[in-house]
Amino acid sequence: MWYLMMLLLCPALCSTLPQDGSLSITVRKRNDLATGSSCNCQGLKCGLVGRTNRVVGGSETTLTELPWIAAMFYKGKLYCGAALVSNEHLVTAAHCINRVDKRHVEIVFGSHNISDVVEAGRQTRRVGDWWAHPGFQRRSFNNDIGVIRLSEPLVLGTDVRPVCLPESGGDYVGQHAIVAGWGRVSEKGRNSEVLRKVRVPIMSNDECKTKKYRPSEITDNMVCAGYDQGKIDACQGDSGGPMMFETKNNAGQRQVDLIGVVSWGQGCARPGYPGVYTRVENFSNFLRQQIGASCLCPRN
Ligand SMILES: *[C@@H]1O[C@H](CO)[C@@H](O)[C@H](O)[C@H]1NC(C)=O
Ligand SMILES: *[C@@H]1O[C@H](CO)[C@@H](O)[C@H](O)[C@H]1NC(C)=O
Repeated sequence: MWYLMMLLLCPALCSTLPQDGSLSITVRKRNDLATGSSCNCQGLKCGLVGRTNRVVGGSETTLTELPWIAAMFYKGKLYCGAALVSNEHLVTAAHCINRVDKRHVEIVFGSHNISDVVEAGRQTRRVGDWWAHPGFQRRSFNNDIGVIRLSEPLVLGTDVRPVCLPESGGDYVGQHAIVAGWGRVSEKGRNSEVLRKVRVPIMSNDECKTKKYRPSEITDNMVCAGYDQGKIDACQGDSGGPMMFETKNNAGQRQVDLIGVVSWGQGCARPGYPGVYTRVENFSNFLRQQIGASCLCPRN
């Protein structure tokens, strides 16, 4: 039998989500953004990777390497990841929003060890509002993307900074993406306390359709990545978390684009079943409309 399996945290998520909770989808019009938005890049460019090493309690970590990563908690349990794209907007998966009661959601930024509540750079916010893509389909996971606006803007700095949205149609096939999160370290394993990242090769959709999924399951709005032999997958990331691609800006600085959103896969790191991600470049209009293009931080 073929079926889709929500990546990673499904068992945890499914047991904690209210079964009756339903969320109406509203698409915010561009004009609504003119008033009330407090977005401000505080002079920062998007996507600049942080210091890659910092010694904490004697062990090396990568605390500020990916400062746009956020952990989403539902009633205190980690259930999804997300990526910061302004000082108050996040991109995540629609299935992390759809049918979830936002009053019970808390989002943590600037964290490395999610169990360590006294981390210096940590900021916590609630959901002000959120929008799943109106075309999201739970059956196919097509259009699995959504936008969150926080209850209150963040203070941007070393530990908390936004990632870049891709400019347009990059060809990533054959190159590696980075996927990160606090998700399970194996299909039946536990969540990770510390942020982990993996490198996965990006494949063309034509190639992905030759893998063990049914070709029709892989739509143009998805992108697949992973190794044929399995073993390394977005199981180490979370649903809704970022798939990232590193480029260089005009000043030669390493800069990271959000090219995908962790969406689904059958199991985790099973041979022949690559991870499937929402292809962010296909949602450029939706994202810019929901977020307000002027809220996005400059690349250069
Ligand atoms: C994470 O933080 C908790 C609470 O401070 C601590 O008990 C745990 O050992 C830390 N985990 C790691 C992997 O450092
Ligand atoms: C999504 O993007 C891909 C790659 O640029 C393109 O081939 C495809 O037609 C797009 N699909 C949709 C539905 O816009």
